[in-house]
Amino acid sequence: MALSASGSFKGRRVLLCVTGGIAAYKTPELVRRLVKAGCEVEVILTRAAEKFVARLALSTLSGQRVWREEDLLSDEHGFEIPHIRLAEWAEAAVVAPCTANTAAVLAQGRADGLIGAALLATRAPVLIFPAMNAHMLEHPATQENLRTLAGRGVRVVEPAVGALACGEEGRGRLPEPEEIAEEVFRALTPKDMVGLHVLVTAGPTREYLDPVRFISNPSTGRMGLAMAREAWRRGAEVRVVLGPIEAHCSLHGLEIIPVVSALEMRDAVMDSLSWAQAIVKAAAVGDYRAKERAERKVKREGREEISLELTQNPDIAAEVGRAKHPDQILIGFAAETDDLLHNARAKLERKGLDAILVNDVLAAGCGFASETNTLRLICPVGEDEVFSGLKEDVARAVWSSLVGRGLFPMR
Ligand SMILES: Cc1cc2nc3c(=O)[nH]c(=O)nc-3n(C[C@H](O)[C@H](O)[C@H](O)COP(=O)(O)O)c2cc1C
Repeated sequence: MALSASGSFKGRRVLLCVTGGIAAYKTPELVRRLVKAGCEVEVILTRAAEKFVARLALSTLSGQRVWREEDLLSDEHGFEIPHIRLAEWAEAAVVAPCTANTAAVLAQGRADGLIGAALLATRAPVLIFPAMNAHMLEHPATQENLRTLAGRGVRVVEPAVGALACGEEGRGRLPEPEEIAEEVFRALTPKDMVGLHVLVTAGPTREYLDPVRFISNPSTGRMGLAMAREAWRRGAEVRVVLGPIEAHCSLHGLEIIPVVSALEMRDAVMDSLSWAQAIVKAAAVGDYRAKERAERKVKREGREEISLELTQNPDIAAEVGRAKHPDQILIGFAAETDDLLHNARAKLERKGLDAILVNDVLAAGCGFASETNTLRLICPVGEDEVFSGLKEDVARAVWSSLVGRGLFPMR
């Protein structure tokens, strides 16, 4: 199945309410990301927010007019009943940044502005991102308001810790636009993996020969992280044992266990085995490591040739396959260059896997370092399926198929 290469959230409708904190400067970038993912975005600004971010920037990036709080009762727009129209239109409503003042307005259920009224009227999930001076955040009044909102089912996303605009250090920073966008995508995703514990391995391993040289492979971790991200969006708790990669995406919401070598990856996976209900082995684990690792840098002088003696690393998937309980699901990946189907089916059986995803790493637009992939899903029973597209879209289709096949007994 060729998956559409357009934005993964095409036509999904997001209401963004921007309130008067200095962090409002991050919202044009947030709108850009949502629109790039295919979302339609309507924006409401408070009067205070207009001091911190330009309406023109937000209307240009969203391609829509930007609403004002007073449009609730304006002669010009009041007749459109904008609070009801926006409330019913939205599939997710986001307040970012959310000031202490707006948190109080929402906690009281006030409807004297467009934001308060629209958020009372909507049935869409509401997410708020409080951002303020650390003392304002810690104040019992603010804390009580945030607890009240959380108790009503609003997702209150913890502010980040760091340098605040007021010059202090502490909790109160608005998360980065990429992280806010991730929360929005999660809110827009149907939750069919709620509470499932998913352990994913991703990225390459490095097998050091001496302190400055290693054997590795070109894995970027993209496919494994796409699987992790999609499981998180569907409501799973996700732990990622991650080999050394260049940062290329937000790890927001994922519990990351960083490792370097195959031995470290094996230990981290075995430590998490009793926690996991589904294990996805997407890392490109080195099959061999140096038999002896030099303590100090190996010098070239006087050595025309050197020989490396390698020894085999443990086969983590096979070890997990032997150790796992029957109700734990093990999903493997196979990066093959020859005889794909035969090798993948043999691996499925030999390693006790419940499913294997195989790709031809020599094919164009596939495998290592590519943003796209073509994967064949093979299970012991049922038809094979082939998915092709952006790794993010392939991951979504793979989880849909696995959930649809009833692979998770607790669902
Ligand atoms: C320079 C400046 C920065 C501000 N930053 C914040 C902030 O980050 N968070 C916050 O809760 N209030 C902040 N305030 C105070 C709000 O702007 C003020 O409470 C306003 O009434 C909020 O209105 P609104 O919730 O309708 O947007 C700031 C005020 C100023 C002057």
